[in-house]
Amino acid sequence: MEDIVGLCKRRGFIFASSEIYGGYNGFYDYGPLGVELRNNIKQAWWRDMVHRRDDIEGLDSTIIMHPAIWRASGHIDSFSDPLVDCKDSKRRYRADQLFFAPVIIDGETLGYVAFMEGTDQPTILKRAKKIRDWAGKTQSKIDEVALANDRKEMTESTEAQRAQTLAPEAGRVGSLTAPREFKLMFETKVGPLADDSAVAYLRPETAQGIFANYKNIVDTGRVKIPFGIAQIGKAFRNEITPRNFIFRSREFEQMEIEYFIAPDADWKALHREWLDTCIDWLVSIGLPRESITEDVHAEDKLAFYSQATTDLMFQFPHGEQELWGVACRSDYDLKQHQKHSGKSMEIFDEASKSKFVPHVIEPSLGVDRTLLAVLTAAYSEDEVPNDKGTAEKRIVLKFNPRVAPYKAAVFPLLKNKPELVEVAEKLYKKLQRRWNVFYDASGAIGRRYRRQDEIGTPFGITIDFETIEKDGTVTLRDRDTCEQRRVTEAELFDFLEEQIDG
Ligand code: GAP
Repeated sequence: MEDIVGLCKRRGFIFASSEIYGGYNGFYDYGPLGVELRNNIKQAWWRDMVHRRDDIEGLDSTIIMHPAIWRASGHIDSFSDPLVDCKDSKRRYRADQLFFAPVIIDGETLGYVAFMEGTDQPTILKRAKKIRDWAGKTQSKIDEVALANDRKEMTESTEAQRAQTLAPEAGRVGSLTAPREFKLMFETKVGPLADDSAVAYLRPETAQGIFANYKNIVDTGRVKIPFGIAQIGKAFRNEITPRNFIFRSREFEQMEIEYFIAPDADWKALHREWLDTCIDWLVSIGLPRESITEDVHAEDKLAFYSQATTDLMFQFPHGEQELWGVACRSDYDLKQHQKHSGKSMEIFDEASKSKFVPHVIEPSLGVDRTLLAVLTAAYSEDEVPNDKGTAEKRIVLKFNPRVAPYKAAVFPLLKNKPELVEVAEKLYKKLQRRWNVFYDASGAIGRRYRRQDEIGTPFGITIDFETIEKDGTVTLRDRDTCEQRRVTEAELFDFLEEQIDG
C-alpha cells in the first residue's frame, strides 16, 4: 500500500484532501492522472452497462433529496454502525472491526487485549504482555494459542470483559465504552429556517435516487420488465474509521444499477447472472480473474433491506475485502416508497398481462474502490535494460488500455531535429482528436519510456529517421513486454482503436 500511495502522490494520481492544512481524514483529491483514470473507469462502466445493453437506462439524480426518502428507505432509523469510544486515548472504533482476545496464564484469564482488524500477532502479544506485567507475572508464559484463536468481535463483549480490556492505544484497562449505534448519514440544513424542519441528508447511496425516479422512467421511457436503471454519483458516509487510503472514505462515488424483475422471476438465477457479468467486467478493466472471490453473506449479517447478498471480494494490499456488492433487495424499497409517498409503484407487464411492484437486484460498486483495485493489479516492479544496455529497476503500472490515463505517448527520437519534431507533432495532434495522448521530446528515449511506464501509458510511438527517410512507419513499443515493431499510420490507428475501445 505504501508503494501505491507514494506513487499516487509523486505522479499526481491522488492527494490527501486539504493537504496544506494537514489533510482531512477520509477525504481525497484526484490529480491530473487520477481524474483521467477515474473518468475512464466510469466511462467503461457506463459504456458496458448502459450503452451496450438494451435493457438499462441511465439517470443522474440529486445528492440532496427530500428527507422523506431516507425515512421511507429506513436509513434514518437503521443506517448506522456500532461504535465504541476509548475514554483513555479518545479514539473511536467500529465495534465490528475491533476484536478482543483473552490473556491467559496457567489457565487463569488476567484480562483481554483489544486490536483492530489486520493487526499482526507480535503486536497483539506485545500488548498482552502489558496486562501480564501489570498483574505482576512478568516471567510467566502467555497462552499464545488462546490469544490467537479465541478472538471475538467487540460487539459480543460483556461489561465485565470490557472492564478488563486493554484498548489498542490505551494506557490502562477498562477504557472502552459499551457499543452504541452511530448514525452514518451526514446532515445539513436546507433553506432559511434553522430548525429541525430544515434538516436534510447527503445521500449515503445513489440507489434511493433511482427508486425515487423509477416511476418517472417507467412512465416516460419504453422500458419493460426486466430492465435496469443505472447511476454514477457521489455518496457520503460519516465512516467511524475511514482507512486504507481510498478504500473506505467519507466522500466517495458509486456506480449502481437497480435491475427490476417480476416478483415470480427466478431471482437466484438472475443474481448469479449479475455476479458473472460483474466479474467479467472487472476482468475487462484489468483485474486478474484469480484475484476476485465471492463472499455470500450469512442471513443474520444481511443489510436491513436485503434478501440475499454476495460480495465480490478483491485481494487489496491490506487484505481480501469487498469490492462490489450484489444484493437482492426484493420489493422492499419500492413498497416502502409506495407506502410513504402514497404513489403506486406498480408496473403493467405486457408479457404476463399483470400489474405488480417489481423486485430488484442491485449490483453496487464504488468508483474509488475500483480505482484502488485497478492500481493494485497494475502495480509491478521489474528490470529492463537502460540506454546503455545495463539492467535497471523500473516501476510500471500495467493498466489495461481501456482505463489507462494516457493511451499512448509520442516521441520524436531527437528534439533538435526539426524534421522529426514536425512529423511527431502532427501525429500527436491527430491522435489527440481521438484519445488522451502525451507528447514528450526531452531526454534520452529510454528515460522517456520509463516515465510513461511509471504512469501506465500502454504504448510508446517513436518517430525516427526511418519514418521520415523511408516508409513513414513509426516504432510502436509495448509497455509490458518492451517489444518494438514498425507499423504504418493506418495500422497504428486500427491497433489503438481495438486495444482502447474494443
Ligand atoms: N446501495 C447499496 C450500497 O450502497 P454498500 O455495500 O454499502 O451498498 C456499495 O456499498 C459499494 O460502495 C461497496 O461495495 C463499495 O465498493 C462502495 N463503498 C461503500 N462504502 C464506501 C466507502 N466508505 N468508501 C469507498 N467506497 C465505499
